[in-house]
Amino acid sequence: QKSGYKHFMLKEIFEEPSCIVSVLTGRIKDGRVVLQELEPFEVSLKELQTLKVVACGTSSHAALVFKYFLENMSDVTVDVDVSSEFRYKKPHIKPGSIMVAISQSGETADTLESVRLAKKYGAKIISVTNVLGSTLTRESDIVLYLNAGPEISVAATKSYVAQLVMLYLLAIKIIQSKESTGKRDFVDKLLRLPEVFENSLKGAESIHAIAKKYKDFKHFMYIGRGYGYPTALEGALKLKEISYIHATAYPAGELKHGPIAMLGPDFPVFSIIPYDSLFQKMKSNVIECKSRNAKILAVTNDENYELKELADDLIYVNTSDEQLYPVLMTPAIQLFAYFVADELGLDPDKPRNLAKSVTVE
Ligand code: F6R
Repeated sequence: QKSGYKHFMLKEIFEEPSCIVSVLTGRIKDGRVVLQELEPFEVSLKELQTLKVVACGTSSHAALVFKYFLENMSDVTVDVDVSSEFRYKKPHIKPGSIMVAISQSGETADTLESVRLAKKYGAKIISVTNVLGSTLTRESDIVLYLNAGPEISVAATKSYVAQLVMLYLLAIKIIQSKESTGKRDFVDKLLRLPEVFENSLKGAESIHAIAKKYKDFKHFMYIGRGYGYPTALEGALKLKEISYIHATAYPAGELKHGPIAMLGPDFPVFSIIPYDSLFQKMKSNVIECKSRNAKILAVTNDENYELKELADDLIYVNTSDEQLYPVLMTPAIQLFAYFVADELGLDPDKPRNLAKSVTVE
């Protein structure tokens, strides 16, 4: 049931607009986010000051976007841990505190163990998952379902986009529990997201052409700042898991603390460089990479085409909603990884050594 697509992964990327619609449907009313599931927590959300989040892999990148967004938009502190680390640390969980556990499958062993540990210390659990009746749903106090439909390809794609949108809703819900009229302009942006997101898939053919040019490189550096950083992490993960090409991701400001030493003509830099408040900072990082003769591939919405001279290849995404860049720029990194793997003759749906649900640690 690939509906004419060569692989499930490609089909699932093209299902992202409908996943966004599913997540948003019935969740916004008169400028307010409606998450009825959270009603029992209404009081604690109002007083919420810190939130613990656990997740693995791609879900942990969604957690990071949630952290950047909620911390930028409110005074709530969001503490993100990869589940496999959290479960073996001193938990720092207070009775009555809230933990958000993000897991597409709801079966990831480390995330389940983190939830069990946090519950032992008195935390309440909100889980964000795609699989009805999964173990995580049974062990959580509240479940936010993604309704993204089954994800067959091992690599998470549409579920990541759905997680991001659900986490924006959760963040706004938390903010609106404190100030009921808060963030209406952002809520309007969320309402327009399905339509705006279509632009993100329009570049698929040009991304395919770029992938053909880059498929034989053995190393890639992904960089971003702010909201671009989690996208860089996700881009590198997608590329390594399905194409087996070495890819590493850094916040761009970290380059000169070590990783820039690796760059050269055989080490392209994939930069996530939206035209936001950090654009000029990113641009100087790109110039530094270019002066090491690294090829520059950039995903941007730079309408002034400042990057045209600088980048060897440009993936243009038509959008101007800064807080939504993590969603809108994601298809570019997913499609790039997909086309590289396919061009290398690999099956992106079944990467070696990986399972869809990681039920053992
Ligand atoms: C990457 C990928 C994995 C999962 C990770 C967590 O494409 O799929 O990194 O994101 O194994 O899985 P869930 O979200 O099911 O807990």
